[in-house]
Amino acid sequence: MTSTSPNNASGRRMLRIAAAALGFVLATAAVLWLWPAREAKLSDEQVLAKAAAFYETRPYYEQPHAYTAVPAGLPDLRAETCGACHTEIYEEWKLSTHRRAWLDDAQFQEELAKSRGDHAPGGEQNDVSWMCVNCHTPLVNQLEKLVIGLTDGDISKPIYADNPSFDPVLQLDAITCATCHVKDGIVYGPFGDTDAPHPVAKGDFLLSEENCVRCHQAEAIFPDQNLGCFFTTGEEWKAGPYPAEGQTCQSCHMPEVTRRLAPAFERPERVTRRHWFGGSLIPKHPDWEEEIAPLRAIFGSGAEIELLAGSDDEDDTKIKLHVRIRNANAGHLFPTGDPERHVDVEATARNADGDTIGQVSERFGSVYAWWPKIVLERDNRIAPREHVDLELSVPADGEPFSVEIVAHKYRMHLEAFEHHALEGRYVRGRVFHRSRWTVGSDGKPLLERVDDDHGVRRTQHP
Ligand code: HEC
Ligand code: HEC
Ligand code: HEC
Ligand code: HEC
Ligand code: HEC
Repeated sequence: MTSTSPNNASGRRMLRIAAAALGFVLATAAVLWLWPAREAKLSDEQVLAKAAAFYETRPYYEQPHAYTAVPAGLPDLRAETCGACHTEIYEEWKLSTHRRAWLDDAQFQEELAKSRGDHAPGGEQNDVSWMCVNCHTPLVNQLEKLVIGLTDGDISKPIYADNPSFDPVLQLDAITCATCHVKDGIVYGPFGDTDAPHPVAKGDFLLSEENCVRCHQAEAIFPDQNLGCFFTTGEEWKAGPYPAEGQTCQSCHMPEVTRRLAPAFERPERVTRRHWFGGSLIPKHPDWEEEIAPLRAIFGSGAEIELLAGSDDEDDTKIKLHVRIRNANAGHLFPTGDPERHVDVEATARNADGDTIGQVSERFGSVYAWWPKIVLERDNRIAPREHVDLELSVPADGEPFSVEIVAHKYRMHLEAFEHHALEGRYVRGRVFHRSRWTVGSDGKPLLERVDDDHGVRRTQHP
């Protein structure tokens, strides 16, 4: 007997690897062979029924909208189809972020790719992307693949089936007209009795906040995937003063206007609602800055920012001022939505020579530690109608000085923006307030000039 030489050992190891590789090829072949066969066994109706049964067992934020049949009289559910008659509403919706929630959103596409995880052959399947698409392309008809179950009940191991009702053009619409208006082949509207070339019914649900909150509220942590979902706009609104005043999401985000629903049809003008869904009005792509800029004068800013004289105190070597940031107009926290959203406010005092003699800055947002556990570390976002004062302290030398306030709002952090190389194909944020004040020796600030979401203006100067 000879002892096993190192060469032999490595030879055996190679053999094992070769055998394993062959086994893997065979297994892949078997899977490839079996998959179509297994899918072929399910009829279109069975796929739809199995998927519907699966989604029903999931929390609401993991469910797409039920299969939506095309209303009689219409060729399909696409926004462009509705838009042929509802021309103005269609043009408004085209500018909305709802229409940009799929391929037009480069950040979303990056995050979606990440959430598909790694499930290369032989690799561990780790795919939670099926959850994301339920809000960003919410109709069953917009999903290329449906989920019919989970392997071992694990959310990162979906079992997919090709969707027989998939419409790839409708998918591009993202949050489309039919999401809110069409159910079981019927178009729901505020009236329910208009003479339309499609079936209509009265949809009281349209104006309820639930119609928005079903997507704008989701709080869930999936520790195994180190995944967290924190959109709490619905709860923030509920906790504020607006519900008691009858102000819902639609009151602010869909202002009223009197006009015809379908301008080419001889019908009376009616009270309708705008479909721009203006929010932070940060364009999703640099090319769309121009088209949404006019909306800023309509929706305004969530926050009002001003400079106030500080309280008198003993210390007469300093002038104390307050930079007040008030959530005057947003019906929820400012900022709200995605946890990466934040607002930066900076105030700089300068003397007549232009030297900086005082400065204060603050970031408003929520901060999560993502690893090893998801924990909320800090949240200083501003509640509806509440304000925060930042103290700006300047040496008192009897000379007048100026204060410049600049405020930015951002969709995401710089690190993530750079990591995904989003420059040129996404907009991280924008300036929404810039004002200039002069402060006399009495410490009283006077507003000289302000440029905010309502435009540039000179004000209050004596
Ligand atoms: C089917 C899910 C869904 C429904 C229903 C829905 N939204 Fe949205 N909404 C979204 C998604 C997703 C985005 C963000 C898209 C993106 O950033 O790519 C969004 C974006 C917005 C924005 C703009 C945010 C921004 O920064 O540009 C506003 C405002 C808004 N929605 C308000 C509403 C209101 C008001 C309603 C109810 C009438 C509503 N939404 C119903 C999913 C939904
Ligand atoms: C061929 C033209 C045409 C097309 C296409 C069309 N509509 Fe209409 N729609 C009308 C007309 C006309 C009315 C009635 C207007 C009136 O009486 O003021 C109407 C009424 C409505 C109403 C109000 C219903 C009510 O009574 O409350 C809604 C909502 C609506 N359409 C949505 C849609 C949606 C969504 C689509 C696409 C899925 C669509 N429409 C496609 C012409 C059209
Ligand atoms: C009282 C008016 C008001 C109400 C009510 C209101 N919003 Fe807003 N919302 C605003 C304003 C103003 C902004 C713009 C904030 C800013 O300057 O960025 C905004 C911003 C948003 C944004 C964009 C994220 C951001 O921080 O800019 C979303 C999404 C949104 N609102 C959804 C909703 C939903 C969903 C509801 C109902 C649960 C709702 N809003 C209720 C006024 C309102
Ligand atoms: C995020 C939900 C949502 C989306 C997306 C949406 N709508 Fe609406 N739509 C509403 C709400 C809410 C109303 C107001 C209902 C009311 O006043 O009772 C409305 C009203 C209407 C009306 C009746 C007139 C009016 O303004 O009250 C028509 C017509 C209409 N929408 C067509 C469309 C078309 C066409 C699209 C796509 C281009 C579309 N909608 C997209 C929520 C939506
Ligand atoms: C419950 C519905 C829902 C689900 C599920 C969902 N989203 Fe969203 N998503 C929204 C809404 C609503 C917004 C708009 C609020 C905002 O922009 O802050 C949004 C906005 C975004 C944005 C843009 C943020 C910004 O500041 O403009 C990204 C990126 C995003 N989602 C990624 C994802 C990914 C990745 C998943 C899956 C892991 C996912 N979403 C699942 C509802 C959802």
